[in-house]
Amino acid sequence: MRLNMSSQTAGALLLLAATTSAQLYPGQSNLNHTCLLQQPLLSCPPQDPSKVDSCCIETFGGLFLTTQLWSTYTGGEEQGQVLPTDSWTLHGLWPDFCNGSYTQYCDLTRQYDPIPSPNTTNGLKNGTAVPAYTGPSIDTFLEPFGKADLLEYMNTYWIGQNQDNAGFWAHEFSKHATCYSTFNTACYGPAYKQHQEVVDFFETVIKFQKRKPTFKWLEKAHITPSNKTTYTYSDIVGVLKKKHGRIPFIGCSGQRYNTTEAGKGSLDNGYTSFSEVWYYDHVYGRPQEANAVPVDASESYRTTCAKTKGAIHYYERTKGSENKAKVPY
Ligand SMILES: *[C@@H]1O[C@H](CO)[C@@H](O)[C@H](O)[C@H]1NC(C)=O
Ligand SMILES: *[C@@H]1O[C@H](CO)[C@@H](O)[C@H](O)[C@H]1NC(C)=O
Ligand SMILES: *[C@@H]1O[C@H](CO)[C@@H](O)[C@H](O)[C@H]1NC(C)=O
Ligand SMILES: *[C@@H]1O[C@H](CO)[C@@H](O)[C@H](O)[C@H]1NC(C)=O
Ligand SMILES: *[C@@H]1O[C@H](CO)[C@@H](O)[C@H](O)[C@H]1NC(C)=O
Ligand SMILES: *[C@@H]1O[C@H](CO)[C@@H](O)[C@H](O)[C@H]1NC(C)=O
Repeated sequence: MRLNMSSQTAGALLLLAATTSAQLYPGQSNLNHTCLLQQPLLSCPPQDPSKVDSCCIETFGGLFLTTQLWSTYTGGEEQGQVLPTDSWTLHGLWPDFCNGSYTQYCDLTRQYDPIPSPNTTNGLKNGTAVPAYTGPSIDTFLEPFGKADLLEYMNTYWIGQNQDNAGFWAHEFSKHATCYSTFNTACYGPAYKQHQEVVDFFETVIKFQKRKPTFKWLEKAHITPSNKTTYTYSDIVGVLKKKHGRIPFIGCSGQRYNTTEAGKGSLDNGYTSFSEVWYYDHVYGRPQEANAVPVDASESYRTTCAKTKGAIHYYERTKGSENKAKVPY
């Protein structure tokens, strides 16, 4: 989820209405998707789904955002929902259009999000309502596939805030994964098993995320959580650009710099609490194969952080909100 509408409009991102099920990719056949027999074309610029197999090449949503979060608490500590020590947490893998806009909740027959946000398909009053899901929570979808190890990994690194983890995963699936061409159920052929693409999507998210150990990358550059020191946007983006290969989006939340004591009188109204990183890639063939090519974040939307030297806090987690992970990142 993008955190709010204003950050979306700031990025000049356009929301398209997605009104009917799987409207982006109507009429996909469930036959002949042997992708290894096809050329793994690049996902951007967008391919024409009437000319290529959209089960084998991601069409339209070919700009992949590997998104991560840094937060200091979960709100579910009492239920044992804690953050992994020395690691950022997973947010999702978003299929933005090649031009930087995006759509959401593309297939309401696969709506598993208990708290749809926004609550209409286009975020406006005149969009189709996205009904809140009340069925069995999405973690139960993994059981028939014997994926307790995947579930353990997700419960370690893919952590909700003020929401249970499974609700957050369901949000990511229904808001974003339903807009991919390659995770459509037709792509799995006549032997498709219900929820197979949900498992496949979760595994693909993790495949991308494991390559981006943000905490370690920053730590090597001596940028570590601290409630005493502050950091500078250019240093943070410099380190992550070097590691990813291209410029990621750096997100901050909290107070605006010029409303803080330190920033009084400044014209820098960027935010001051480091909280997000989005890494951008195009891919060859299916995102499932993760044959990725890093690209720069859109020039018009690179950061929400203050740029003044020493303006950024990278806060330590609240005591009791983190635990050492039992499974490796
Ligand atoms: C599937 O492939 C076979 C063999 O190439 C072909 O005869 C058939 O028309 C294809 N079916 C569809 C729906 O594409
Ligand atoms: C961006 O790309 C999508 C998918 O190709 C297209 O539907 C949309 O109209 C484009 N938006 C703009 C602003 O060009
Ligand atoms: C929905 O509302 C927006 C803004 O109020 C408007 O621009 C758009 O044309 C409307 N769409 C439809 C389908 O009515
Ligand atoms: C969506 O949420 C807004 C704000 O809470 C509310 O006014 C509106 O009725 C909701 N719309 C639907 C379709 O549930
Ligand atoms: C903060 O910066 C913005 C943009 O430069 C400016 O418009 C605003 O007046 C400033 N606010 C304060 C409280 O200094
Ligand atoms: C560090 O500061 C943040 C923000 O004020 C706070 O939420 C967090 O609990 C603090 N952590 C520690 C270990 O003091």
